[in-house]
Amino acid sequence: MAKITVVGAGNVGATCANVLAYNKIASEVVMLDVKEGIAEGKAIDMMQAAQTTTFETKVVGVTNDYSKTKNSDVIIVTSGIPRKPGMTREELIGVNANIVKSVVKNCLDFSPNAIFIIISNPMDTMTYLTIKATGLPKNRVIGMGGALDSSRFQYYLSQALNVNPAQIEGTVIGGHGDTTMIPLKRLATYKGIPVSKLLDADKLNKVVADTMVGGATLTGLLGTSAWYAPGAAGAYVAESIVCDYKRLIPCCVYLDGEYGQKNICIGVPVVLGANGIDKIVELELDSEEKALFEKSADAVRKTNSVLQEINAL
Ligand code: 2OP
Repeated sequence: MAKITVVGAGNVGATCANVLAYNKIASEVVMLDVKEGIAEGKAIDMMQAAQTTTFETKVVGVTNDYSKTKNSDVIIVTSGIPRKPGMTREELIGVNANIVKSVVKNCLDFSPNAIFIIISNPMDTMTYLTIKATGLPKNRVIGMGGALDSSRFQYYLSQALNVNPAQIEGTVIGGHGDTTMIPLKRLATYKGIPVSKLLDADKLNKVVADTMVGGATLTGLLGTSAWYAPGAAGAYVAESIVCDYKRLIPCCVYLDGEYGQKNICIGVPVVLGANGIDKIVELELDSEEKALFEKSADAVRKTNSVLQEINAL
């Protein structure tokens, strides 16, 4: 079984590690944090639940000791600061870019073959930065955003339809931003029934709008960024890789001509297996969806251009 490192033992990182252990996704999970004691404490707390919740994963917490992450198969990066109410994810770039860059490089020193899952925000730009700063092949760097945004889309659809969210199929592509994500309402279904047949246009548009600000809504309620669904989405992506499940998951990946885009990391559906990205699935978008995707890519590129301004690239 796999060894997975989670960098950042804050709310998202710890939740992710917890799901990895509870769902028996890895034999070993290493949590690493810069803050003295936090990863160790959370790891011990999780291990003290091993007997009552019946998992055998070994969870280890370390402060800044990258040697303990040696030979990880997958590294999940959650480092950096989360947004506060009223902030956009893009505003975090100045602080998070250099943190993510050094984390990824430190991890690579000990796990040169690892596959990276990026959660830190602004997630599309942090995924792009990881590829550009390391030269890693594009199959080994995956941003988690679309997995989370799609699960929020399915949640809001299930609320509007008053049905089980697990029986909804919904895909969100584009950037992981309040104005850049694109919940694909035309393709969403409830057990194969197009949701457009079950909800009128106003209701469906409200679901789309609620999905787009799903993270901001929770930040407003919680006073900080959400963690249960983001952590679980990271574990879901990791599981498809370490178990070679070949799940089709919308994720942020490097495009080289697909969807008419080059030199950008942005959300599209991908098949994830043992090598990371197995395949990028090209959906047939209609003209409205194509226009939204182009607009989203322009916005993500604009945030990427800040990387040069702050000397991160
Ligand atoms: C969110 O949308 C953490 O970006 C993440 O909640």
